Amino acid sequence: MRINVITIFPDYLEGPLGLSIPGRAREAGLIDYHLIDLRAYTTDRHRTTDDEPFGGGGGMVMKPEPFDEALRALERPGHVVSLSPRGRPFDHDTAVRFALESDLTLLCGRYKGIDERVGEAWVDEEVSIGDYVLSGGEPAALVVIDAVVRLLPGALGDHDSAASDSFYEGRLSAPAYTRPAEHRGRSVPDVLRSGDHPRIERWRTGQADAATRQRRPDLLDLDAAD
Ligand code: ADE
Repeated sequence: MRINVITIFPDYLEGPLGLSIPGRAREAGLIDYHLIDLRAYTTDRHRTTDDEPFGGGGGMVMKPEPFDEALRALERPGHVVSLSPRGRPFDHDTAVRFALESDLTLLCGRYKGIDERVGEAWVDEEVSIGDYVLSGGEPAALVVIDAVVRLLPGALGDHDSAASDSFYEGRLSAPAYTRPAEHRGRSVPDVLRSGDHPRIERWRTGQADAATRQRRPDLLDLDAAD
């Protein structure tokens, strides 16, 4: 898989993409990240990427031409996604869908967003990572990339398991414990040390259901509606 990211801050992403599972996946040849500096596609002396909004109001809007040129320069843009608080919520199912693409291009907006004509001409979908406004799409792009890469076959080692992650089966995961069995007067639940795997599985299912009911009843509502 290849992920292109168009941004005015390629350095923002370079470090994190070299670490942890995204870094290991790159080293293993499962994924290739291509960080594209939007300013390389400006033509003026000041390398301008934004301008005032038509219609007035505060803030600046990212100009269409640099994004258009950067996208034209890509041999295979593939599925083009813009990161924006106006987007549809990014979730596990979206990550699975993106992980099935061979080429994914992420556009990082800043300020009041990217000129809408870039969206019309190029963007397949806009996604948001939550109901808050970030200073730019870069942290959101890292979130999307991390969630996608860990789904690629071979990206997780034996000790990481996507199947026991929260959201994998539409609910939160059970709480986890490791050694020591006793820590500052708190013990690991006996069932987890029983060696009785069917019982452990039942306990985890019960814990996952209880946590989901308490913290994220919306996930259960959605399942019922499916
Ligand atoms: N850019 C600014 N805020 C964002 C958000 N919540 N999700 C994705 N991109 C963004």
